[in-house]
Amino acid sequence: MKNLSYQPSGQHLIRISNLDFSLFTFSFSLKSFTFAPMFTTTLLDWFALNGRDLPWRHTQDAYAIWLSEIILQQTRIQQGMDYWLRFMQRWPKVEDLAKATEDEVLRMWQGLGYYSRARNLHTAARQIVEQGGFPTTLEGIKQLKGVGDYTAAAIGSIAFGLPAAVVDGNVYRVLARHYGIDTPINTTRGKHLFTELAQSLLPADRPAEFNQAMMDFGAIQCTPSSPKCVVCPLQETCEALRMGRVEELPIKEKKLKIQTVHLTYIYIRCKGKTAIRKRPAGGIWQGLWEPYNGELGMRNEELGIGKELGIGDCTLVCKDVKHVLTHRILLADFYLLETDVFPTLPNEFIWVNENNLEQYAVPRLIEILLGKLPR
Ligand code: ADE
Repeated sequence: MKNLSYQPSGQHLIRISNLDFSLFTFSFSLKSFTFAPMFTTTLLDWFALNGRDLPWRHTQDAYAIWLSEIILQQTRIQQGMDYWLRFMQRWPKVEDLAKATEDEVLRMWQGLGYYSRARNLHTAARQIVEQGGFPTTLEGIKQLKGVGDYTAAAIGSIAFGLPAAVVDGNVYRVLARHYGIDTPINTTRGKHLFTELAQSLLPADRPAEFNQAMMDFGAIQCTPSSPKCVVCPLQETCEALRMGRVEELPIKEKKLKIQTVHLTYIYIRCKGKTAIRKRPAGGIWQGLWEPYNGELGMRNEELGIGKELGIGDCTLVCKDVKHVLTHRILLADFYLLETDVFPTLPNEFIWVNENNLEQYAVPRLIEILLGKLPR
């Protein structure tokens, strides 16, 4: 046992299909031998046989690898290869790209779209030259313009062997299916869970292969539709396949569409009093007070003559006051109606002394509107 060193790299409690169980990630070396999870070894074996032969996979040059990742943020492999080859031919070193004019870079990028990526690429090339070379840490790589978590992990692992797992759509799909995870991938909880899981499966001694294997496995084998489960090397341990949930996973939470709602409020001022009502049950403002509301029947175009109330003119206090709620954007118009005759209002309204208005709890939007009233 002398040569056996055991280094647990973490224990992850993962909730999978409503069952809690622990996934131990470990790597322990026996002389130069490293044991990795079965998922990892199977994936790496698959990659050795099926990995794509891509031109940037024949180099260790961080510039070339970074360039490929930026291009692949924007396009698919086939088109990406053409652009990568042309960029590399024209500007073989980062110093060459840094010396190019923005116009030249934009022209070379033409056809890929989203030109801010090309501008960022150019800026980052100058950043790299200014700092005397390509950054070699994850933090340093992330400082480059246009580089986020995914790209930093891809460059860091492929160019420098940094043990950082990439997490993108391919990775979510492969892991959600293999481990039968139905936590939505577009939630903070989901992002953490999948990032931790990917990280726990990444073998510290082969991060470049593992990450590229995940990319290729997701693109070739475990595809979004019609995945090749029949010939999948992970079929025996795939939870989604066992449960018949391959097509269903991964799960994305439907984001509620943000609605814009227009509101009209009228502050009625009569003999030092104003009319308010308590919001009825239901809705987030239940129990809070508000002034006369367009909801109660008055339409915008009628406000000029105060027709609904049968008295004087309304004057506009403010228009399109924006108030953002979780699933709604409110745009409020606020009018002032000054009169000496108490109008007849629906029963739920009470007349309160304007000086006592502060004693009534109102929604934040109403507080803002009231603050804009002329005294
Ligand atoms: N997609 C993004 N980066 C990639 C890479 N390095 N290889 C294959 N596909 C990718």
